[in-house]
Amino acid sequence: MPIKYCKKEKEFHLYNDELSYVICLLPNGHVGNLYYGKRLSEKMSYSYLLEKRQRPLTACVYEDDDEFSLEHTRQEYAAYGNGDMALPAFEIKSDDGSRLSHFVFYDYAIFKGKPKLSGLPHTYAESDQEATSLELYLRDSVSETELCLTYTIYENRAVITRNARFTQRGEKPICLKRALSLCLDLPDKDYDWLHLDGAWGRERHIECSKLHQGCQSIYSLKGASSAEHNPFLALKRPQATEDEGEVLGFSLIYSGNFLAQLDVTPYDQTRISMGIHPLGFEWYLKKGESFQTPEVVMVYSHLGLNGMSQVYHQLYRQRLARGIWRDKERPILLNNWEALTFDFNETTIFSLAEKAADLGIELFVMDDGWFGQRNHDRAGLGDWTVNYDKLPHGLIGISQKVHELGMLFGLWIEPEMVNKDSQLYREHPDWIFHHPAHSQTQGRHQYTLDLSREDVYQNIYRQLHTLLTNHDIDYIKWDMNRYMTEVYSSYAGKERQGELFHRYILNLYRLYEQLTSEFPHILFESCSSGGARFDPGMLYYAPQAWTSDDTDAYERLKIQYGTSLIYPLISMGNHVSEVPNQQLARVTPLSTRTQVAYFGSFGYELDLRKLDKGELDLIKKEIAFYKNYRRVFQFGAFTRLISPFETSDTAWQVISEDACQVFVGLYRGLLKINGPSYERLRLKGLEAEASYRLNNHIYLGSALMNAGLVIKEEDYAGAYRDFTSVLYHLEKI
Ligand code: DGJ
Repeated sequence: MPIKYCKKEKEFHLYNDELSYVICLLPNGHVGNLYYGKRLSEKMSYSYLLEKRQRPLTACVYEDDDEFSLEHTRQEYAAYGNGDMALPAFEIKSDDGSRLSHFVFYDYAIFKGKPKLSGLPHTYAESDQEATSLELYLRDSVSETELCLTYTIYENRAVITRNARFTQRGEKPICLKRALSLCLDLPDKDYDWLHLDGAWGRERHIECSKLHQGCQSIYSLKGASSAEHNPFLALKRPQATEDEGEVLGFSLIYSGNFLAQLDVTPYDQTRISMGIHPLGFEWYLKKGESFQTPEVVMVYSHLGLNGMSQVYHQLYRQRLARGIWRDKERPILLNNWEALTFDFNETTIFSLAEKAADLGIELFVMDDGWFGQRNHDRAGLGDWTVNYDKLPHGLIGISQKVHELGMLFGLWIEPEMVNKDSQLYREHPDWIFHHPAHSQTQGRHQYTLDLSREDVYQNIYRQLHTLLTNHDIDYIKWDMNRYMTEVYSSYAGKERQGELFHRYILNLYRLYEQLTSEFPHILFESCSSGGARFDPGMLYYAPQAWTSDDTDAYERLKIQYGTSLIYPLISMGNHVSEVPNQQLARVTPLSTRTQVAYFGSFGYELDLRKLDKGELDLIKKEIAFYKNYRRVFQFGAFTRLISPFETSDTAWQVISEDACQVFVGLYRGLLKINGPSYERLRLKGLEAEASYRLNNHIYLGSALMNAGLVIKEEDYAGAYRDFTSVLYHLEKI
């Protein structure tokens, strides 16, 4: 068992080949942390790591032990108001108004496998041998509340998952004001912290800064995980690089409001907290009721950022994503959005579909504009029936035609939203989040449905169920194009207003769960104004996501590079679009746009009818090429080589699952006049003694990794100009 309990020392040791995590019971009955890091021997006790010493006057020590202060003790799930001065993991308001609690350990369970989190997305184990779990049971005797802290360690992955569950046993209700998923205290602050920030069109850019005393955090209060911050952070030792050194990753499996926070105490301890954002959050628990927090996935790497990324990629691809599409190669798609926006009819759709089929495209996606009175973004959302004025033969006619052309048929929906100009809103104006006495804001002329309501849920579910039952649909792009404001529900009582954001997300997950189980053959792709809800919660239901609305190849390098810190290639929807690019007016060569989009779930997003013969011939070839090696680009091991955040160039590589095929993408930003000689690109992860063929040359793996690949100007496709690229294909022989 990779979890050992030592009764004498009161220590739990979770370990596998890569890591150790040691928990102890503290003198006051709380749970503390002794160690998280590289594997230690499980045969030893680490109680010496609990430091107790006389503290100066400012510390609040226990009356019977003046060496024991929670302010200086590393805890597993810190409470508020009992001597710990850092930000707590939870806060309970009791019936008498008190915010104090004192959760004392009373029992534990260690068992094989990984328990499910009901109603919430989570990583899983396919067999009991893959993982072992520990549950710690604690009780607060005053409020009569129970707390269960759950840990799972994977046998062959450097991963520990955590979550917490509160259950009220007492007669008097309690109110959870804060209930985070993770609290972890580390003994020092010698880290840089990394996070993925941005905005619409520049999602998941890597930010890195040195930890300092006090609180530093990222968060979302927008109802979606957001384009501005991703629910992820990593702590890396300052000297750690892509390939070496210690990195700790923390990723929250949740799609709504979140907080990821680091609080460095005056004594240089670092507390990492992660979970649902406490602002505006309240959850009442009556006798017998429970509250389950989302899951946090902690990854330990002593092989730098790349080591961490490999673990997340594999875990999220193999044990977070589900369904028949999890391991299946994804079709090359054409999406009509950038080509036509709302301005289409049956004829234009058919002509585009015919062009797509000619080129070898496998999935035709009809984006926004096919339903209700959706001729612009001011109308139609909420009415999920076809617009016969635009499409006289309905969805049946379109899907039949697309299928006859030998392609799959996909459709765009945005079921969580409504326009005021829609039948749904006219019938149910009270179904949106709003406060009757306050003014209201709109986003893209749309309003968020109060999905926490059962009648709203049932209406949307029924509309989608009918749509998917009555039509031959193979793919769904599920969009969400505004953040939430005026989140008030006149239907929920005053005590339930603090629950709305989370109840919305729970019902969103329920809707996804219901539809993905009823229509398992459908490939779902999530989207939110591009990548504003690109998070692990969504990946549990939709195994791929639209990475960004920014389709400019040069900008995409940063977005895909940053996204790759935790998310696997197959989860990223990448499309080739037209030039000048619609977002930035930049002109990049077709080959560069293709070679950027290749790395992931590949497709097109442009008006094929406007291309000349040369471009169409090239696209045909590029599609055929991708089909030959799709498995590598979608499921291979992806490694970053040159960071676009450090230079204007970018490079990355992917190695096939059988390690025989290697593709290296090298992308030039701006040309340098009279630039460096001896440009080399050192590859990674090859077999040192193996030989690799590139064009007509044979290279040893060790040479490619140490001396590097010699970069020649003529390798770049196209003319000597900015934004060109090379795709090297090496084969092991
Ligand atoms: C935002 C998405 O990111 C786009 O790809 C497109 O689907 C539009 N919404 C449609 O409204």
